[in-house]
Parts: sequence; C-alpha cells; structure tokens
Amino acid sequence: MNNIIELRNEATVLPCTKLSGTLQPPGDKSLSNRVGMLASIGKGISRVQGFLASADCVAVLKAMEALGARTHFDRDGELFIHGTDGRFMSPVGPLDLGNSGTGMRLLAGLLAGSPISATLTGDDSLRGRPMGRIIEPLQAMGARVEALGAKGCAPLRIEGTRLQGITYELPVASAQVKSCCMLAALFAEGATTVVEPAPTRDHTEQVFRHLDLPFSVDANRITVDGFGAAGPPVPSKNWRLPADISSAAFWLVGAAAHRRGALTLKNVGLNPRRTAVIDVLKRMGARIKVTPHKLETTDVEPYGDIRVVSSKLKGTVIGGTEIPNLIDELPILAIAGACADGETVIKDAQELRVKESDRIRAICANLHKLGVAVEEMADGLRIQGPAKPRTRIVLDSGGDHRIAMALAVFALLGEARVTIKRVDCIETSYPGFWNDLSKLGGQVE
Ligand code: S3P
Repeated sequence: MNNIIELRNEATVLPCTKLSGTLQPPGDKSLSNRVGMLASIGKGISRVQGFLASADCVAVLKAMEALGARTHFDRDGELFIHGTDGRFMSPVGPLDLGNSGTGMRLLAGLLAGSPISATLTGDDSLRGRPMGRIIEPLQAMGARVEALGAKGCAPLRIEGTRLQGITYELPVASAQVKSCCMLAALFAEGATTVVEPAPTRDHTEQVFRHLDLPFSVDANRITVDGFGAAGPPVPSKNWRLPADISSAAFWLVGAAAHRRGALTLKNVGLNPRRTAVIDVLKRMGARIKVTPHKLETTDVEPYGDIRVVSSKLKGTVIGGTEIPNLIDELPILAIAGACADGETVIKDAQELRVKESDRIRAICANLHKLGVAVEEMADGLRIQGPAKPRTRIVLDSGGDHRIAMALAVFALLGEARVTIKRVDCIETSYPGFWNDLSKLGGQVE
C-alpha cells in the first residue's frame, strides 16, 4: 500500500468529524540548519535534542559530512555532531542541498571565507531560486562566488578566499541573506554590519549568543566581529531545539477552523520573530492559549504549549512588517482566510513568489479550483470566505511542501474527498505529517 502511494505520489484526504488531541510537531527547521552548520565547524562533539530529521536538514548534514564533520542519530533521535575544529576540507563532488534554500544560502556564507573550494547545487526548485541576493554581498566582501546556472541561479561555485568586513543594507527583508552575511562575517577581517529593512527571524543571532560569538544589535543593525581566515572558535554544546511553529501552524488553523477542533501542541518554539501567526489568528478570532515553559541552559530559544479550540474566524488584513515574521505560514493563513467570514487580504508578500514555488500563484490556482473566490495580486492575495471543499477534486501541490500541507488541512475541513498530487515534498519539513494527521482524527488514502 505504502509503495503504491509513493509510486503515485498523491494522497486523498477525507473530511474529518473532529480534529483533536495532543502532539509535538517536528523540530524547528531554521534552528536545525544553523546548529547543524555551526556545530560542524566546532571543536568536539555537540549533542542536539529535537533536531529536525527531514530531507532539508539531512541534506545540510550530508553537506557538512562531505566537508569533514561526522554526524549520527542515536536510537532516541538525538543527533551527535563531531565538529571539524574549524578546518573544512574541499568536498569531492558538488554538495547537494536538495530543496533547502536556507541550506544553500547559509552554507555559501559559511564557506566563502574558508580556504576550500566547493560547488553547491540542489533540486529543480532550488536551482530556480534567486541567488544574486547572496552573491552581491558576498562579492562585496571579496568572496569568489559564481552562479553557474542561468539568470544568477545555482549551482554556485565557491573558491574560498580572504574576506573583508562591509556594511550591507539588505534590499529584501530576508533572514537567509542576513544569516549568510553574518556567517561570512565570522571569517572576514574587521567588522561586518547588516542593516535590515524590517525585523526578520533572528535564529542566527540566538545561536551566535549560545556559542558566545561576538556580535551586537543596534536597532536594525547587526554587527559581527570577524576572526579573519582562521575563523571563529566554536565550542561544542548541548542543544535542545523546540518544535517548529511553522509546522504547528497547520494544526493551529485546522483546529481553529474545524467545528469540532481542540488541540494541544507541545513544546513549540515561541521566538517573538516567529509568533506573528498566533497574533494574526487571534485577530481573526481564534481561541488560542499559549503557556510558555521555563528555559534550561540547553534551550536556545523560548518555547511552550499552545492550546487551540474551534473558533468563529473572521477575515483580516495581513501585511507590512509582520510579513517576514510569518512568511512561511502564509499558505495556511490563506486557508484560514478561506474558512473565515468576510475578506482576508495578504499584501506586501511578493517574496512568496520566490519560495519553494511561486506560492501566490499556487494558492490562487488551487483555491480557484476549489471554488473559493480569490484574486491574485502582485504582492499577495484577496480571499473571500467562508468556503470549504464541497466536491471531489484533484489538486496539485506543485512540489511545494507547505502548499501540500495547507491543502491537506483544508480538505479535513470540507465535505468531500480531496486528492492532492505531488505530496512527497512534505518530507522536506514535516516527515511525520500524515501520521500526525491520522493521530488527530484525519483520514488519508
Ligand atoms: C528562513 C528564512 C525565510 C523562510 C525560510 C527559512 C531561515 O526565508 O522563508 O523557510 O531559516 O532563515 P527568507 O529569509 O529568505 O525570507
């Protein structure tokens, strides 16, 4: 049966009578990527609880192994990383980051000032995503980074060289670009300052803090002190990573929008730069209660439990500076909008067009097929609710994990079976998604 599903790579989701229970979503993807990379240049063995063992993060670990680190998971899923003590080796063959934009952009920063050569590549989606946004600041620092693909896209060829600190104003509010610059800055001579047009997720800053790497934040300016070509001293650490709020978001919306929804999501990351999805859902009328936990020394960021129950949702406007802090939740927030009374507008979100797919187009095309009144805008969407899937239908994720999961949740809330094509991409961020869906009362064929 499993083989058949894999072969056809599609899932049929049935409407569910209730969506309830307790679960812990998988580990935070952004933190897993950063910890995986930095522990790999560290001295000694780092231990990571809660590392996300998804395709994206495993691709990053494989790349780190090709650069000289050693990694293994024990039987409880804990990850051990044997660092290279700052001495990467040139990998044999290209490093394949799969679907991981964070993997490619951050690793390019980490390698630009190391005395090695490497080629970074990825799947069709990743090789179609803009890399000029990291090449520009890296080249300004003196890096030898070249896009081998068409239109400034990957593969990227990096010949590690000496870097110079710079001041760089980000043209887009992107945590990936900021983090790429911060990682390269560690290997530069002098200080590097990155100026953000709007606050973006700050996991790199939190991880630097945990590792005692020197940097300062002054309003929207982040300054990293460089260590030159020798690179920074990175100690081995024990880490405990929280569950990913972006994965939790699917169930937050599902339970709030379901007429019999009641869920508790355990140990979810509550970094204030990631919780805008909770603010928006509350604004839409969702009944959500957050209970933060006490932090221990191995915790790198705040986390807690989130309780959500069936709610009457109303439309809202999502835009401005909240966009970077909920960028990955916009597909499922569009579903919340489709379930809500009245109009939901998503604006200032043109970055959605250069994610794992053009998410504005993908959401629009699928909602349209489902009979939802939706208007595509250059920088977002305008959705009229409430609506739900009423007839049997076949949809297509376009190979984008967050589109696939958003559509699956919408199907749970409807009245008809919905078939979603190309669902294997869900492995990139949420390997246990179908199990969790079943655990909460959903059914999938
Ligand atoms: C990420 C930042 C975001 C987000 C991506 C992960 C990160 O991208 O969409 O899934 O880990 O820094 P941008 O910063 O490019 O918007």
